[in-house]
Amino acid sequence: MPRRALRHIDESLDYSRHLFLIRELQQPWDLAKYFSDPAAPLEVEIGSGKGQFIHDAALAQPDHNFIGTEIAHKYAAYCAARLIKEGISNAVMFSGDGLQLFREFLPENSLAAVHVYFPDPWWKARHRKRRVMQMELVRACEKCLVPGGKLHFWTDVQEYFETALEMMAAESTLKGPFTPDVDPSQWRTHFEKRTVIEGRPVFRSWFEK
Ligand SMILES: C[S@@+](CC[C@H](N)C(=O)[O-])C[C@H]1O[C@@H](n2cnc3c(N)ncnc32)[C@H](O)[C@@H]1O
Repeated sequence: MPRRALRHIDESLDYSRHLFLIRELQQPWDLAKYFSDPAAPLEVEIGSGKGQFIHDAALAQPDHNFIGTEIAHKYAAYCAARLIKEGISNAVMFSGDGLQLFREFLPENSLAAVHVYFPDPWWKARHRKRRVMQMELVRACEKCLVPGGKLHFWTDVQEYFETALEMMAAESTLKGPFTPDVDPSQWRTHFEKRTVIEGRPVFRSWFEK
């Protein structure tokens, strides 16, 4: 289903503390650049879309820090605007490829959780290598999660779910899959809301280091 157009980026806001370009990040990795309490547990989302998860999770867990990543800059800015307008200081948006963030910056044993909700399915076989749930991310999670840290993976695409779980079973040291106990009317993301309203199934899993 096509996406509805987003409103224009709100130019009246000061994005300087909430929106960062992954391609402009510099070493050394320093969470004090983004958060007032850099020692707080850190959670990263890949593909924040319209930002419902990052917004709600940051409000629900003020003692955790959150980084949302979004490859579509307009959506990253839209998510950041939501955070700015509500004065949320424990969540920021990184615009760019979330996999690059893992590849180049996130240190070993640094993440309490990684969230992947409704990643783009890339239906055609020749495009499958573009999927976010691939071994590169799994290996990155094995490295970057703290012991006991969690990888959450939800999708509405049964084939994607089954393929990813087969890959995890064959190749990953993460424990799982576990099935989260959720109230489906309390949707975590925009895509989950749409899927539930349309009466289609959601496939949910989490894994633990
Ligand atoms: C189908 S949408 C789901 C959005 C949101 N997670 C939800 O459930 O409503 C997938 C999102 O992932 C983003 N995305 C795809 N590949 C990405 C990547 N490598 N890094 C960051 N974002 C990515 C897309 O731009 C898109 O906004």
